[in-house]
Amino acid sequence: MKLDEDYKNIVKLRFDNFNDLSHAFFNEFYNFILYPETFSEHVFDSFSLKDTLYYLQKSHLEYLNIWLPKIERIVDEIQQDIGTNELTLTLNTFLVNYQNELSNHINFEEKVLYNFATKLLKGVYVESEKIFVLNHFLETHSHTVEESLLTIQKRLRNIDSKKVKSNLFKTLFSTFNLMYNDLKIHGLIEDEVFINKMQHYIDKNF
Ligand SMILES: [Fe+2]
Ligand SMILES: [Fe+2]
Repeated sequence: MKLDEDYKNIVKLRFDNFNDLSHAFFNEFYNFILYPETFSEHVFDSFSLKDTLYYLQKSHLEYLNIWLPKIERIVDEIQQDIGTNELTLTLNTFLVNYQNELSNHINFEEKVLYNFATKLLKGVYVESEKIFVLNHFLETHSHTVEESLLTIQKRLRNIDSKKVKSNLFKTLFSTFNLMYNDLKIHGLIEDEVFINKMQHYIDKNF
């Protein structure tokens, strides 16, 4: 996997303070995206709760407004190229389901978790809400939203191992793989950085 400059710039803009961040920081961060299993939450140590929230909200918007339409465009091209068959039917069904899955995942987080953080930043804190929001999130936060991007590739390979070797499928699969890595880091930031930043913010301010 390689990260192109367009992608790197999009990632850069998830940091509200990107002008103050060093090359070394971004290199380390891009490396985490390439190898999510090496992720260390310490990369966010110097960031505030507000910066972390900004990063997460920005990436949600990208998933919905950049990644999904990009995948849709590639699937359309595949459909035009090979017509309707089991591969394209499977892909179209996947796309409809995945759009729902991803937007439900995002909506829930925005409404419950991010909303709670936004209120904290405005000085509003209700302890009973914290217990509900943080515990509920930690217990229910699912990672199927990224796993689905790997499962679909396996299913398509099983249907037609030859056709999936075309350039369009290669583009589709590499888009899925990059989005998988990106979502994986996003989920780790939610689990390992964001929750802790919220807890510290509460301990310090309320
Ligand atoms: Fe999220
Ligand atoms: Fe999430």
